[in-house]
Amino acid sequence: MNIEKPKDVLHSSHTSTQRRMAPEPQVRDELPADAAAIAQLTAAAFANAPHTSHTEQFIVDALRRTGQLTLSLVALKGEDIVGHVAVSPVSVSSGARGWYGLGPISVAPDRQGQGIGATLMQRALQRLREAGAAGCVLLGDPAYYGRFGFVVRPGLTLPGVPAEYFQAICFSGEWATGDVKYHEAFDATA
Ligand SMILES: CC(C)(COP(=O)(O)OP(=O)(O)OC[C@H]1O[C@@H](n2cnc3c(N)ncnc32)[C@H](O)[C@@H]1OP(=O)(O)O)[C@@H](O)C(=O)NCCC(=O)NCCS
Repeated sequence: MNIEKPKDVLHSSHTSTQRRMAPEPQVRDELPADAAAIAQLTAAAFANAPHTSHTEQFIVDALRRTGQLTLSLVALKGEDIVGHVAVSPVSVSSGARGWYGLGPISVAPDRQGQGIGATLMQRALQRLREAGAAGCVLLGDPAYYGRFGFVVRPGLTLPGVPAEYFQAICFSGEWATGDVKYHEAFDATA
């Protein structure tokens, strides 16, 4: 995930009806043996996504290596890993505690548009709420993430990116204010 540039929307050819009919994937925490499959899936999901640095698989690995993977959920179809979402802590310049960044999120190219991304989003947010997180931020298209409750929050910013792509959701307490900083694992290039 390139956190310096906005993502373009990748429109799926699947219809809403097809998505509603698809059974929900099984979702679980990653296991140590999943790392290679997650990297492969992440690279494949972002291969044709515009405005990425194509380093998302390295970011996930670096987050794992540095102990920053607060959540690493995989979606399964049968035994295959077809989706993944990472969540890691972020810091906020005001000193607000308990805020997290969601992403990268990836769905296998041939499985996109079937609701797998939505299931992963909902599970990740549910887990954060249950863990008592204050809120969550992400960089992405508002047309997709707005449906999960993310909004552009004036005063909560990611320096260097267009404001409309940086969104947040507050679970409890007061909204954080200030500049958000992702972990340095997001600079990983290999
Ligand atoms: C973004 C992504 C995770 C969504 O997962 P998915 O399983 O395809 O999404 P769902 O089936 O739950 O939802 C499909 C809806 O999302 C929209 N959508 C899919 N990818 C999108 C994207 N990157 N940005 C905005 N909207 C997107 C579709 O147009 C569809 O919209 P509709 O409900 O109005 O018809 C997946 O498409 C993906 O892996 N994309 C490539 C990697 C990427 O861009 N990740 C996000 C940035 S971190």
